[in-house]
Amino acid sequence: MKAYRSAILRFADDQSAVYEKDGLLVIGPDASGRQVVRAVGDYAALAPNFPGVAVEHLPGRIIAPGFIDLHIHFPQTDVIGSPAAGLLPWLENYTFPHESRFADEAHAVELATFFLDELLRHGVTTALAFATSHPSSVNALMAEAQKRGMRLIAGKVLQDRHSPDGVRDETEQSLVDTETLIRQWHGNGRLGYAITPRFAPSCSEAQLRGAGELAAKYPDVWVQSHVAENLDEIKWARELFPKSRSYLAIYDDFGLMRDRAIYAHCIHFDDEDRALMRSTGAAAAVSPTSNLFLGSGFFDYEAAQRAGFKYGLASDVGGGTSFSPFHTMLAAYYVGREGQTKKGVSLSPQDLWWQHTAGAARALGLDGVVGNLQPGCEADFVVLDPAATPLLARKTAQAGSLDELLFSLIVLGDDRVIEKAVIA
Ligand code: GUN
Ligand code: ZN
Repeated sequence: MKAYRSAILRFADDQSAVYEKDGLLVIGPDASGRQVVRAVGDYAALAPNFPGVAVEHLPGRIIAPGFIDLHIHFPQTDVIGSPAAGLLPWLENYTFPHESRFADEAHAVELATFFLDELLRHGVTTALAFATSHPSSVNALMAEAQKRGMRLIAGKVLQDRHSPDGVRDETEQSLVDTETLIRQWHGNGRLGYAITPRFAPSCSEAQLRGAGELAAKYPDVWVQSHVAENLDEIKWARELFPKSRSYLAIYDDFGLMRDRAIYAHCIHFDDEDRALMRSTGAAAAVSPTSNLFLGSGFFDYEAAQRAGFKYGLASDVGGGTSFSPFHTMLAAYYVGREGQTKKGVSLSPQDLWWQHTAGAARALGLDGVVGNLQPGCEADFVVLDPAATPLLARKTAQAGSLDELLFSLIVLGDDRVIEKAVIA
């Protein structure tokens, strides 16, 4: 066993933050050998229970759960900051050409290494990631994540139509490849697989049907896609699938809405869509920097809370502009203030942080496993330096409450705050 003494941030079941100014985090193996939190709490109260356990003292630091990114594209690392009139021209002019390069396995391996380094440098210890349509891109990312012991979930993109040469796949083979990848990677160590139809417009009915059959055959495998991001995209999806009630309903009609199904964006919904999210157990990956950058719109927090469906935060790199959870939380705050219906909500710093940690874990069906530091959680955490910049040092020293401290970090923080990320 090993213990860390420092300030510690974690979350209670009611989503409120629990903060120990002088805390102790005790890590050790559980019955199956996983490195988990064995105990956590006030240092003075807890330390006498663990005589002989080595304690690393981190004065002035904060230990917090590793962040979870609910939606990110590893092959779009080099696409960040590519301007376009909107989603569809951005896909055509930047994204698809970049993704076609992943036919080259050496390129995929190089990017996988860079991408995972970048996630960890920003304190992200778990991600739900798109690869490309090339199965070898999944192998490259999974192998690299396994080397680091990361809990990573990823999938091969399905896109058998309305996609250029170089990224378009073939219906039957794409489904065979998906099942092969599920068998190879899902539950292999800490890795998980996600069935990944890119979005309804890029998938034939046969491909969506096959994806839905796999989702039923492998109920603990994840599903990930995009929905209701952009008005032109929605119009196109409705034309292609006129029998479905809405864009979201297309996925339901093909058996792709269930627990562990994560849909990026979910901006232009009506209340029936929101009720469908809630009743099926699907979750939204809210991607505010991407939505602001591509001019897609604003996630309606007020309506989502009213409907009671699950959601959490995501970077959506490379539509998103940053790997940093701090930047994403700040953008989510702006989006909440704006509000799609102009009935903006003021998201609290504890809520924003929860959405990127324990809330994201709940959306993935991994509550109590990652995204928190309660006893039994896997030991993925970050060590934060709240004085990482001169301005942060001034500002956090004046914080009179936990909310003020967390807000200072959200507004002023970036990768400089992440002193290190510890995996398992
Ligand atoms: N819709 C279909 N593909 C994509 C993608 O790569 N990024 C975003 N933001 N939306 C999409
Ligand atoms: Zn995306």
